[in-house]
Order: sequence, then C-alpha cells, then structure tokens
Amino acid sequence: MVFVTRREVFSASHRLFNEKFSDEENERIFGKCNNLNGHGHNYVLEVVVAGEINQSTGYVLDLKILKEIIHDHVINKVDHKNLNLDVDFLHGKIPTAENIAVGIWDQLEDKIPDGKLYSVKIYETENNYVEYRGKV
Ligand code: NI
Repeated sequence: MVFVTRREVFSASHRLFNEKFSDEENERIFGKCNNLNGHGHNYVLEVVVAGEINQSTGYVLDLKILKEIIHDHVINKVDHKNLNLDVDFLHGKIPTAENIAVGIWDQLEDKIPDGKLYSVKIYETENNYVEYRGKV
C-alpha cells in the first residue's frame, strides 16, 4: 500500500456557537471562537489517498487529478467564505475543525478515481489539527 498526499490551503471565517445554548454557555464552551462577528483562519488541508501503484503509469493516483478534485469539490466552496453560512456541506453543523474534516471527507470519498481516500487532515492553527479516516 502506498499513500499519496495533496496539501492545499484556504482562508475562511467562522463562529463557533450552538443556538440551543445560552450566550453564557456559548461563551464558556467556545471562548474566543464564539466572537459574535466571527474570526478567520488560514486552514491547511491534507488529503491522503492509499492504493497500489499502477504499473503502466507508476502512480497510485495522478496528483494533478487529486488537486483538481479537491479544488472542484472543496476549495472552491470554502476559500474566502463564511463557514457558518456559505458552505452547503456544513449547513446545520458547528464549523469546528472536526466537522470540517468530516464534511470534506464526505465531499471527496466517492470522487477518487484510483486508490481509496485514507485520511483528511485539517490544520486550524500551526499547533492544532484534526484527522478523519472515515467511519470505523
Ligand atoms: Ni476559530
């Protein structure tokens, strides 16, 4: 098994809150991320595809193709967007890195032509990231 990775970056804003919580609870649970008018992140996305090497191309999956798939189905939908309002695959979800990673997985899983989606990683800051590897 060989793992190939495409890294992408995007910028987006969000606000973490649960409409079912009181203002005090939202403030306690989400702290600075609860800021009423949102805040931004420069997100780093890493998408890993696992598979066997195709003997006629030498590739698991041509990374040019993976790049296009990620742009068409993810980057174009999230870059310079408000993740609470603008992104169809996050509607009704609190846009934490966890939910973003799962949402991106669901966008990509059935679009990978060769190999299988193995992991979606979202870095929200240099030190904080979340990785999703699909349903266990
Ligand atoms: Ni944030």
